[in-house]
Amino acid sequence: MTDSRYDGTIDWDRYYEDADDEKRAEASPSAHHAGDVLAEFVAATDAARVADVGCGTGAATFTVAEAHPDTTVVGYDAAESVLEENRERARERDVENVRFEHAVLPAFAPDEPFDVVFSYFTLQYVRDVARALTNLYAAVAPGGHLVCNYLNEAGRAYCLEAADDPHANTDRAFVFDPDQYTERFAALLDGDSVLSAERIEHVLGVEPRSAFEVVDRPDTQWAWHHAPLVCVGK
Ligand SMILES: C[S@@+](CC[C@H](N)C(=O)[O-])C[C@H]1O[C@@H](n2cnc3c(N)ncnc32)[C@H](O)[C@@H]1O
Repeated sequence: MTDSRYDGTIDWDRYYEDADDEKRAEASPSAHHAGDVLAEFVAATDAARVADVGCGTGAATFTVAEAHPDTTVVGYDAAESVLEENRERARERDVENVRFEHAVLPAFAPDEPFDVVFSYFTLQYVRDVARALTNLYAAVAPGGHLVCNYLNEAGRAYCLEAADDPHANTDRAFVFDPDQYTERFAALLDGDSVLSAERIEHVLGVEPRSAFEVVDRPDTQWAWHHAPLVCVGK
């Protein structure tokens, strides 16, 4: 069952409460390159305050905080259970420039603005994705950037191919758990959370650029065709 917090996706609190290491890794795509990309972006733009919204296990959050000890990094997530784990890890590792707070997109109204608001593989779970984008961008300080990825129409079409029979498609990307596949990606499969550069520009009034105009694109193959990583300056 989902509650209103997880309209359009699974109950992520329960997910992390039940998750073994493999499940945690499956929910941490930013561990593969995005943390390093974000750390490079922070260095290139001299960002002093960074938010990682939908931080999950904090793979990118910790990478940036540890690479940039003078930068304040705040990880936000809807799932309290994973936030508490992350706080414990920060204490254990003595990472003093990181903290974790609760936020449920599309709502996002932090007390302070950020030089970089980052959100990775999270917007696809939010039905009112336009309001999420608006609120994330509102939290960007003048001169700063929203850096996010999103699932586009090609991504939705790819995911729809597995939706009729997830159990027959466990070899495909995104089919982490065939039993929960259609519930997990409901907002995407229904088309609600699909984004494009044009839609982002329409919502924010600013044309998004590829994040790789600012930082180097990693050599490794990614699903950029389905999930572009963009930045929107302010
Ligand atoms: C696939 S994980 C990605 C985690 C992290 N960004 C990464 O790439 O390693 C998606 C995360 O979004 C969180 N999430 C789902 N719906 C959310 C919402 N409405 N607001 C904030 N976080 C949400 C989940 O709890 C989960 O941690």
